[in-house]
Amino acid sequence: TSSDETLPENYYGDLPTRGGWAKPLVLYQNYWLNPERLKHIIPVREHFKPRSDDIILATYPKCGTTWLKALAFTITTRGRHGFAAGGHPLLAGGRQHPQEVVAHLEVPNPAGDLTGIGEMPSPRLLATHLPLSLLPPAVATCGCRVVYLCRQPKDAFISWWHFANSMRGGSSPFIEFDDALSMFCEGFSPFGPFWEHYLEYWKQSMERPQQTLFLKYEEIVSDPVEVVKKLAGFFAVPFTEEEERGGVPEEVVRLCSFETLSGLEHNLAGDVARGDSIVVGKSMFFRKGKVGDWENHMSKEIAKKLDDVIEDKLKGSGLVF
Ligand code: A3P
Repeated sequence: TSSDETLPENYYGDLPTRGGWAKPLVLYQNYWLNPERLKHIIPVREHFKPRSDDIILATYPKCGTTWLKALAFTITTRGRHGFAAGGHPLLAGGRQHPQEVVAHLEVPNPAGDLTGIGEMPSPRLLATHLPLSLLPPAVATCGCRVVYLCRQPKDAFISWWHFANSMRGGSSPFIEFDDALSMFCEGFSPFGPFWEHYLEYWKQSMERPQQTLFLKYEEIVSDPVEVVKKLAGFFAVPFTEEEERGGVPEEVVRLCSFETLSGLEHNLAGDVARGDSIVVGKSMFFRKGKVGDWENHMSKEIAKKLDDVIEDKLKGSGLVF
């Protein structure tokens, strides 16, 4: 389906629109979305047919999508590629960016369409930033596996603020920190409200733990080897004893680490290949890769504003940060 062909020009004409981030966002089914992205989201909802053996990596943006894509790709393709620099797609031999090795549902391929996903052989490894409620309902019931990754919202916000300011292009004004924080706290951010996004997948992971694995960025940072093993098991390709003895989980962690990936020449220059007008430089997906960077940007008093929102919105859900 070419999304441009299936939608009328005024496809978001009646939806509420609000400016403040790099581009004005529209409110669609309770989520604030970039209209350029929405153009492709509507066809995904209508045409994406999940399969029972799909693996879907779902993330709130800036919560570690790039990392999760690298990890999931490396785990599931480890039989095909060794870990040597010359042979691995993510290393010097393949020169691919982690964003390019896993197809993103609502981002058209470089040819500008969304058809590729329907034609991919099974089992498919896919990614999305869409909240569960914007995916076809079959995702929740068809048996496919979903890994959801979120992050301490204060760090996710800091990462967003930096990212949005690098994305804004020459004509848009700089997004002031205080304005961005107020918008984020109101739930007005791309794919926001963030708490709704987190909570939809959180509830799903409680109801269907076999199908939905809920992860936090901080959890991967604190024990990456354990998470890599957990992911392999969840993907139904657990490490054999021999692989564990041979240190394969550790190799995966090393290959996908911030230090390795952010230091590769091919991840430092050029833009991620995609088929829409949202241009993102490859290096923009690597900034610091640290837990707790919010402390370098906010006083405890300012942080409390977001802490109060987090506490209030997640209250009673069992999800805590
Ligand atoms: P920071 O801005 O806090 O550094 P996404 O991939 O969802 O856009 O998230 C980007 C965030 O993940 C950025 O966070 C980025 O630095 C961090 N990141 C990217 N690759 C990573 C990796 N391999 N390991 C850990 N963090 C990574």
